[in-house]
Amino acid sequence: MERITILDGKRIVLGVTGSIAVFKAADLASKLTQAGATVDVIMTEAAQRFVTPLTFRTLTGRPVYTDLWNTEGDGGLPTHIAHIGLAEGADLMVIAPITAHHIGKLANGLADDLLSVTVLNMRCPVVIAPAMDGDMLEHPAVAENLRRLQERGVIVIESEEGRMASGLMGRGRLPEVPTLLGLIRHQLGREWGLLRDRRVVVTAGGTREAIDPVRYITNRSSGKQGYAVAQAALDSGASVTLITTPTGLELPVGAHVILVESAQEMLDAVLSCMPEADALIMAAAVADFRPAQYADQKIKKGDKDLRITLSHTTDILQTVGEQRRETGYPHILIGFAAETQDLIENAQSKLRRKNADYIIANDVTAKGAGFQADTNVVTILGADGSIVTLPQQTKTAVAEAIIQRVAARLQTVPRR
Ligand code: CTP
Repeated sequence: MERITILDGKRIVLGVTGSIAVFKAADLASKLTQAGATVDVIMTEAAQRFVTPLTFRTLTGRPVYTDLWNTEGDGGLPTHIAHIGLAEGADLMVIAPITAHHIGKLANGLADDLLSVTVLNMRCPVVIAPAMDGDMLEHPAVAENLRRLQERGVIVIESEEGRMASGLMGRGRLPEVPTLLGLIRHQLGREWGLLRDRRVVVTAGGTREAIDPVRYITNRSSGKQGYAVAQAALDSGASVTLITTPTGLELPVGAHVILVESAQEMLDAVLSCMPEADALIMAAAVADFRPAQYADQKIKKGDKDLRITLSHTTDILQTVGEQRRETGYPHILIGFAAETQDLIENAQSKLRRKNADYIIANDVTAKGAGFQADTNVVTILGADGSIVTLPQQTKTAVAEAIIQRVAARLQTVPRR
């Protein structure tokens, strides 16, 4: 797993309480560590009945804290008193899984073990992820405690529905690790990101233009660059709407997703988001043409050649670019230019024609660039005349470079 910028160098205190879902907490601790975070784990006594501290010590490379009365092996904490040292300088506290008992303790400010004492010292955001079986989550006592904690600013990750360890079906499962990781990223972004309180709309994927109920015309876009842009915006704390065609990629956690197929559907979705958007990033490969006629029934093979007349689709970026000449919104408009020749000239013409602030141009035939690759080689052209060519890098790094430009522009304009 590659390092994740928003997690790199952060100090996360992970509280683990006694639930069978601790096996997911072990994976979470591992993923956070691999992403570059320093993870200090506090285990309750009940948690140690399911797994030993050695599991977490091995995965995080750090001491694991289990005992309020034992302050040895402080792992370089700011002070040797563990509950103070753990709280000081922490960027985020996550308690996953948290049991009904510990929810009750937190809600009432009880402090009789290292975890509950440490929470009371925390000045950073606290995220809790309940996990419990049967009807416990719906019990009025638990529901009331969760409500009180939320009112106090504790972030509660919603438990998922599904099969429990008991064999019962219901709500109470700890979400899977990618979901937990995504929510943690978004929370950190909301705390420190440059796009807090900003609304960013990203389009991704290749549109599908239907010929008949079974066939369509599409292109080679994978959606990877657009999804990376959406994730980078989430990591910066933005509220993100991702307007995407079906790509088969994992959806970025925390994004509001609008699934579309055709250029027309994408146009409608984009326009519906514009009244509130601060930024639009058109990473989608929108078809320029669609079949002029849609056949309601499947076209049969027959024995003659089939001719399909194609008509122009509406240019979404250009439409929004024209609208903003009147409205001034969105504040920042970014397009892509996938070219096979005359990269700079073609991109410059698109920049002007579409009234964009930046065009991210790439030669899709270049090595390490293009549709299916995980890396990209792009040149960023600005309406201010700037031309910056980035070396070959991951689509994640390209996305971060784009979001940095969005953040720089938005810093100069008021919130919507
Ligand atoms: N785009 C759009 N709507 C379209 C076509 C393209 O919004 N109907 C956007 C793309 O999302 C991209 C930018 O315009 O951000 C440039 O797309 P591209 O296909 O490279 O350019 P075109 O304007 O279609 O020109 P050409 O195909 O002739 O290169």
